[in-house]
Amino acid sequence: MTLIVTGGAGFIGSNFIFHIMEKYPNYRVVCLDKLTYAGNLSTLAPVMKNKNFRFVKADICDRDAVFALFEEEKPDVVVNFAAESHVDRSIEEPGIFLQTNIMGTATLMDACRKFGIKRFHQVSTDEVYGDLPLDRPDLFFTEQTPIHTSSPYSSSKAAADLLALAYYRTYGLAVSVSRCSNNYGPYHFPEKLIPLMIANALNNKPLPVYGKGENVRDWLYVEDHCKAIDLIIHKGRAGEVYNIGGHNEMKNIDIVKIICKELNKPESLITFVADRKGHDMRYAIDPSKIHRELGWLPETKFEDGIKKTIEWYLSNREWWETIISGEYKEYYEKMYGNR
Ligand code: NAD
Ligand code: DAU
Repeated sequence: MTLIVTGGAGFIGSNFIFHIMEKYPNYRVVCLDKLTYAGNLSTLAPVMKNKNFRFVKADICDRDAVFALFEEEKPDVVVNFAAESHVDRSIEEPGIFLQTNIMGTATLMDACRKFGIKRFHQVSTDEVYGDLPLDRPDLFFTEQTPIHTSSPYSSSKAAADLLALAYYRTYGLAVSVSRCSNNYGPYHFPEKLIPLMIANALNNKPLPVYGKGENVRDWLYVEDHCKAIDLIIHKGRAGEVYNIGGHNEMKNIDIVKIICKELNKPESLITFVADRKGHDMRYAIDPSKIHRELGWLPETKFEDGIKKTIEWYLSNREWWETIISGEYKEYYEKMYGNR
């Protein structure tokens, strides 16, 4: 079995590669990644010397490079994690989101059609459903919830999902789509809420909470997401969408307070800053389909997962300190300087 994993030098893709290579030591895993600001080759150091692993630096929008790789590797399965993934960046500069997230997905699927790939899996997000109100805790996103996006990021992901399902219907390409809630865990880029708050707290810097911090996200430990995708590519039905989430809804402000407590830092570091434009209020996934069809359930409780995550950031300071000492500084100044 040969798998091409795109975006494998990023947060979830790298965790997925580690999971697959440990569970299926005979699989060949080829990681295709452009190494944007969010991709980090050092993350893949643990598998780099494995004879069943290959890293290829390329853009999923580069048709020639993608087709040449497929010709050479003849993959059985392609799992597409490659994306521009940060909502705040999409608000500043939507263009690259449309290019990578939509055109890149189309390019990969064209290669899948040409080379007769057995499964193309599109890693998508619960953000394609828009948001839910705070005063209706009885409402959840199901696979039937209409697409109703808020940001250029979520719109580009929704466009890719629709395209993937169209390739299934029109060309019979064996596509599956998963829509997951917010992940957290090791190798999470420190521009996202949890790793940013951990890094800032450790450096005694202000903890910038958008608006009143009342927005709710449904947090899932990254390993549980990887296990769900593993099940879908092996046993999930083609042409189907699967929601993934752990019924773990939490307000942003509560997450930040937990991080302060775990790190023994004062809550006075918390600073309320201008809200995100078009900020989604609440995400909450109904994962009953993937449970019913594939037997998936989240295994890591938030109180354990957040402890493991914080421990990881404490023992891997070099990984994130290298990131925040580079061009990240400019990004931080631009996004938070006058907020
Ligand atoms: P990330 O930003 O950490 O990593 C993205 C990776 O894709 C990086 O390694 C980057 O170099 C690579 N990449 C970007 N553009 C590329 C291109 N044109 N060609 C090749 N590689 C390219 O993202 P993540 O948080 O790991 O998310 C992975 C996927 O999961 C994304 O598709 C995202 O939409 C989806 N997702 C993320 C979450 C979450 O909480 N992080 C939740 C649900 C779904
Ligand atoms: O729901 C899945 C999505 O989760 C994925 O599709 C995205 O790729 C991923 O980035 C994530 O999107 P969010 O926008 O929910 O994640 P982020 O970490 O950027 O923000 C989480 C919440 O925290 C959100 O309500 C905004 C808030 N926030 C974020 C940052 C970076 C703050 O209050 N302060 C911050 O500095």
